Amino acid sequence: MIVLGLEGTAWNLSAALVDESRVLVEKSSTYVPAKGGIHPREAAQHHADHMAEVVGNVLQAARENGWQMDAVAFSQGPGLGPCLRTVATAARVLSLRFGIPLVGVNHCIAHIEVGKWNTGARDPAVLYVSGGNSQVLALRQGRYRIFGETLDISVGNALDKFARSVGLPHPGGPRIEELARSAGQYIPLPYTVKGMDFSFSGLSTAASEAARKHELADVCYSFQETAFAMLVEVTERAMAHAEKKEAMLVGGVGANRRLGEMLDIMCRERGGRFFLPERKFMGDNGSMIACTGLIMLRAGVTTPLGQSQVRPGYRTDEVEVVWA
Ligand code: ATP
Ligand code: FE2
Repeated sequence: MIVLGLEGTAWNLSAALVDESRVLVEKSSTYVPAKGGIHPREAAQHHADHMAEVVGNVLQAARENGWQMDAVAFSQGPGLGPCLRTVATAARVLSLRFGIPLVGVNHCIAHIEVGKWNTGARDPAVLYVSGGNSQVLALRQGRYRIFGETLDISVGNALDKFARSVGLPHPGGPRIEELARSAGQYIPLPYTVKGMDFSFSGLSTAASEAARKHELADVCYSFQETAFAMLVEVTERAMAHAEKKEAMLVGGVGANRRLGEMLDIMCRERGGRFFLPERKFMGDNGSMIACTGLIMLRAGVTTPLGQSQVRPGYRTDEVEVVWA
């Protein structure tokens, strides 16, 4: 079975073909705003401008290799409305053109499914951390339930905000990680866990203030240690609560080595196992949509044209995980 996947919820437009065991081809194009943050309509325009080239390259590879597609999967939400609509329109056209079914995929679930597919994790508690999301999830009674989430901004957004305030380039995460390695001391910053939820807005502001009095490397290090300890605490509690022996890290912030290391230590201390997908599957990518689409198709799930409208606020726990 071969499935084409289209991703384009935010910055990254990406198309990929996967079969049961591997990624056959993936092509992407990333929107970079002239200045400041992401502008939804500009990002959608970028996706429209590059759709023919990105999808065209993937279809050419299919022709050259004789790969026959069985379905077109697309990220139906959550994400930015204009971007989602551009991608959904392309997916509908391809489905009609090739006479193959559509599979509407939840973007957050795709991060989880590609991680399981790539690592061999079976039933993990999942820490999903990116620029748009910070959640701890686990499968329970046929759905990915959210055990804990941010009360304000995501951890990726908090890192990026702090980075901008001290003049580091966007995205801030990678640069903060690099600086943190040369730190000399820990500076106390606000640690906020409420029940199973966490908050990062105050931490980001406090770090920006601390950077006026302390070495930047020390503040970067302290920011990471504080934020990641909060995430690890909630992940551990979700494992205990949901009785999971595995944990898995997904999303763009998952590229951070220190976060992976802290989760690994926590899992080993409680006799569990930690799973870290390859870096190329961490950020948004077409392969994760194709991979999830294939898993859904195999379970008999397809999306009729009349139900293929985009879902900007699509929640993870709305999806019945019939393939688990
Ligand atoms: P989503 O739509 O799932 O919310 P996204 O659009 O935010 O995803 P991602 O690529 O998943 O895109 O995540 C981007 C975030 O990851 C940015 O906030 C960036 O700073 C952060 N990030 C990337 N690399 C690292 C790193 N090494 N350490 C910490 N954060 C990182
Ligand atoms: Fe994402």
